[in-house]
Amino acid sequence: MPKKNILLLAGDGIGPEIMAEVKKVIDWFNVNKKLSLEISEELVGGASFDENGTPLTDQVLFKAMDSNAVLLAAVGGPKWDDVEFSKKPERALLRLRKEMRLFANLRPAICFEELVSASTLKPEIISGLDILIVRELTGGIYFGEPRGIEHIENGDRKGINTHVYTSKEIRRVAKVAFDLALKRNLKVTSADKSNVMEAGLLWKEEVQKLYDDSKEYKSIELSHMLADNLAMQLVRNPKQFDVIVTDNLFGDMLSDEAAMLTGSLGMLPSASLSEKDKHGRIRSMYEPCHGSAPDIAGKGIANPIAMILSFAMALKYSLDFDEESDLLNEVVKEVLKDGLRTADIMEQGKKQVSTSEMGDAIIAKLNNKI
Ligand SMILES: NC(=O)c1ccc[n+]([C@@H]2O[C@H](COP(=O)([O-])OP(=O)(O)OC[C@H]3O[C@@H](n4cnc5c(N)ncnc54)[C@H](O)[C@@H]3O)[C@@H](O)[C@H]2O)c1
Repeated sequence: MPKKNILLLAGDGIGPEIMAEVKKVIDWFNVNKKLSLEISEELVGGASFDENGTPLTDQVLFKAMDSNAVLLAAVGGPKWDDVEFSKKPERALLRLRKEMRLFANLRPAICFEELVSASTLKPEIISGLDILIVRELTGGIYFGEPRGIEHIENGDRKGINTHVYTSKEIRRVAKVAFDLALKRNLKVTSADKSNVMEAGLLWKEEVQKLYDDSKEYKSIELSHMLADNLAMQLVRNPKQFDVIVTDNLFGDMLSDEAAMLTGSLGMLPSASLSEKDKHGRIRSMYEPCHGSAPDIAGKGIANPIAMILSFAMALKYSLDFDEESDLLNEVVKEVLKDGLRTADIMEQGKKQVSTSEMGDAIIAKLNNKI
């Protein structure tokens, strides 16, 4: 089997603790499924700043660009609060996303049956939830020009950001959403503010046009929803959705809202993907949705599942190991069914385990599948 390179960037806080559990899982797949996954590890974020004076060295960036997949745990923490803005640990993430041209951010919101009670919503609303938000990540108001703060007359000031999208940017992210819907439940909801924004109207028209022009998407049901209504529908009846596609700004908010539906931040993975380059390669980075959790770092109690499920997404979307990805998702469910819980998802009557005990339990379940 051809070798595939995975770059591991553990970062700060709980990053190294949860990455250690993923390494056990990668080793297991190499030994037992002969996947030939070659891993290398580098510093990123605050850890890189401490060593190299920058949160991301060029050498690590080039290595990331050259990998079949990057797994990043988390960066940041109070230790670097006073570091100048351009050297802050979080700048590493923005640079990686920008240089690797990761324009499509995939955030699943899945409610594990065993964790229904962790949600603030009623069990019947949340049980069985499995939706995927596709957020445009490199355009829109966070990057549009002109931007800045200007002095105007009478000592007043003006803050400016520009919400701008081209047809091409809209179509390429909509294509990702349609292609994913073909592998899921054949439903795409596009969210915009076409009622008040020209860029929103273009968004709606281009998504519809791509759908109308493409024979392969005919089996998909496409609908458009205003982003504010979608925010409301997400808490009213989230199971009406399958794939949601939206821009950078609305995606930022809607994906956080969707993550909280499930009530357990330590469980949610994410993927960011580029377009195919001229060699047909897609660059990709996989991360848990949570941050570096400095409040619990070093205590051995962090939940490694979001990180492990991020690797499961890498198996599916970058490494072409669909079966192995399904297997990993399945054993995580089994471990939860057995009643094992890290502190963040602990409930009465369940067994509390440490970070490494959770990793070991997942490996034990994998061993049962040989
Ligand atoms: N992608 C990233 O690397 C990323 C994302 C968000 C925040 N951050 C950074 O992380 C630092 C902390 O940010 P924050 O506190 O707002 O968010 P956070 O996600 O790190 O933590 C929020 C809360 O959730 C808990 N938590 C998070 N992940 C957990 C896990 N796997 N297991 C158990 N509990 C978990 C934390 O203990 C904390 O109470 C900041 O420096 C922030 O900039 C980094």
